[in-house]
Amino acid sequence: MSLEQLLAWIPAGHPDVALARQVNFERLPAHIAIIMDGNGRWAAQRHLPRVEGHRAGIDAVRDTVETAARLGLGVLTLYAFSVENWKRPASEVGTLMQLLKRYLRSELNTLLTNDIRFRVIGRIEELSPDIQDELHIAIERTAKSQGMLFNIALNYGGRAEIVDAARRAIESGVRPEELDEDRFAGFLYTAGQPDPDLLIRTSGEMRVSNYLLWQIAYAEIYVTETLWPDFRRRHLLEAVLAYQKRERRYGGIASAPAAIGAQ
Ligand code: IPE
Ligand code: IPE
Ligand code: MG
Repeated sequence: MSLEQLLAWIPAGHPDVALARQVNFERLPAHIAIIMDGNGRWAAQRHLPRVEGHRAGIDAVRDTVETAARLGLGVLTLYAFSVENWKRPASEVGTLMQLLKRYLRSELNTLLTNDIRFRVIGRIEELSPDIQDELHIAIERTAKSQGMLFNIALNYGGRAEIVDAARRAIESGVRPEELDEDRFAGFLYTAGQPDPDLLIRTSGEMRVSNYLLWQIAYAEIYVTETLWPDFRRRHLLEAVLAYQKRERRYGGIASAPAAIGAQ
């Protein structure tokens, strides 16, 4: 989409208008990946149970998805549940899954209106059948959308993905000498998608927590102290503006500002 699409959605006089106008639409990241973190801390600050943080995080997801689509991003990938998150209490896991289900039901029309194609990356087959059904409905209903690809990383682990890719490569019968980085990337969950140019993590933690390990090889990393439930359009725009000031080198020497190398 474009500046017009974005401005159409921001009330006149709102401070985000000035931010939106600073964005260079010629140099948008092709793919933004986000580690949505800090829901528990958000709730703790308010003396609420952790699940209230997850509930509040849904508003941040809604705002971020629509901002990203209106910006005209090619791909947005949100980390919703890691393979390690099963270590959490069953009640918290259950709430997260129920929230996901509710989100998909209530937001399907918004996804369609914004021409968003929904996908899931992760070991979906290990999720409960009702969640799988809900995911498949959203995937099928949005399959013809032509706009932004919205991946949700669910029961996702970067190492698990690489192992799954290796298994698929072996099953495909590819000969060892034929396997190179491009070919291998074709066996990942994100086959055919551009690698993230920008990786955002909320709530200040300086780690990647097993997220898109292969794909973030040269991603620009942006960590904000903002807790996920507080993350809004403004924060996404700020991250994009910070990204556009970065100089990407890809192992070469200093040359041009961000996104040139991403062409
Ligand atoms: C992120 O928030 C949501 C998920 C991992 C599902 P957390 O629940 O990790 O919140 P903190 O890190 O404990 O604050
Ligand atoms: C990463 O957050 C996983 C998701 C956002 C889904 P965590 O809160 O699980 O990560 P750690 O445990 O702080 O590394
Ligand atoms: Mg966390």
